[in-house]
Amino acid sequence: MTNLKSNLITISAFAPATCANVAVGFDLLGFAIAGVGDVVTLTRRNDEHILISEIISDEPLPMDPDKNTASAVVKYFCQDLNIKAGFDIKIKKGLALGCGMGGSAASSVAALVAVNAYLAQPLTAPQLVKYALHGEHVAVGTAHSDNVIPCLYGGITLTQSLSPLRVLELPIPDVVAVIVHPHTRLDTKESRSVLPREILLTDHIKQSAYLAGFIAALYEKDLDLLQASLQDCLVEPKRAPLIPGFYAVKQAALNHGALGASLSGSGPSVFAFAKNQSEALGIASAMQQAFSQHQLQSDVYVSLISTQGAHVVA
Ligand code: HSE
Repeated sequence: MTNLKSNLITISAFAPATCANVAVGFDLLGFAIAGVGDVVTLTRRNDEHILISEIISDEPLPMDPDKNTASAVVKYFCQDLNIKAGFDIKIKKGLALGCGMGGSAASSVAALVAVNAYLAQPLTAPQLVKYALHGEHVAVGTAHSDNVIPCLYGGITLTQSLSPLRVLELPIPDVVAVIVHPHTRLDTKESRSVLPREILLTDHIKQSAYLAGFIAALYEKDLDLLQASLQDCLVEPKRAPLIPGFYAVKQAALNHGALGASLSGSGPSVFAFAKNQSEALGIASAMQQAFSQHQLQSDVYVSLISTQGAHVVA
């Protein structure tokens, strides 16, 4: 049986929003966004039940502990580590559902970091990955790692392998990230359903060159190479029709100096990389304007890539 800190009753953890894929690395690459995310609070119970006590969210979320990603992760963690304890779980969503900014990952990772903090000897981030992936499986039906890993680790990460787990924490580029979230929902399941099972070898070659160029650009601190590499010939063309005005929004970003732009995760949010803060603000407003021409209001986040992953806040 795993030992818990006996004097710890309540604990909260924050987990950041994340931008997955980053144009070049479908299901492999992602980065953490500063200042926006979910907060999950766990409180010890006198019995061994794991229940959702409260969800603060603009949209309804499952209260059933087996269907909610945060509680499902806590349950799996406790079962797997033979933890004899119960918790009430309160979830405060900072992210809209189906926005393409890693909302399900943020809830499950925040819950995981909170429950881990009860352990007399907490697990490390790599040891937490398998539980976080379970959360993605509950939420989406696939255990993709490109939201949960940057959410746990912070920074910009590449999953080189899941089994055995090998995560590369990549050099953070000197760029400002712009994420525009149009007020429409696109579920990851739906956005994955439009993707082909097979791709052309010629497209694979092109995309491999983009990914390799992007990674080299990070290590070389070469923004020209980054700009030339930040392209997606595989996934973006399939998903673009699901997002009203996607190409106009992307073009608006590029016209205002963005180094590149594409879907954030499975969309509908769109991210762009800017050379500096003032260009980022111009890019953000041009992207919002392009969405509004397609009758979509939007929120915007302008942030450096956050070096801080999920962490305890109280
Ligand atoms: N890589 C995943 C996808 C991320 O694009 O479907 C989902 O947030």
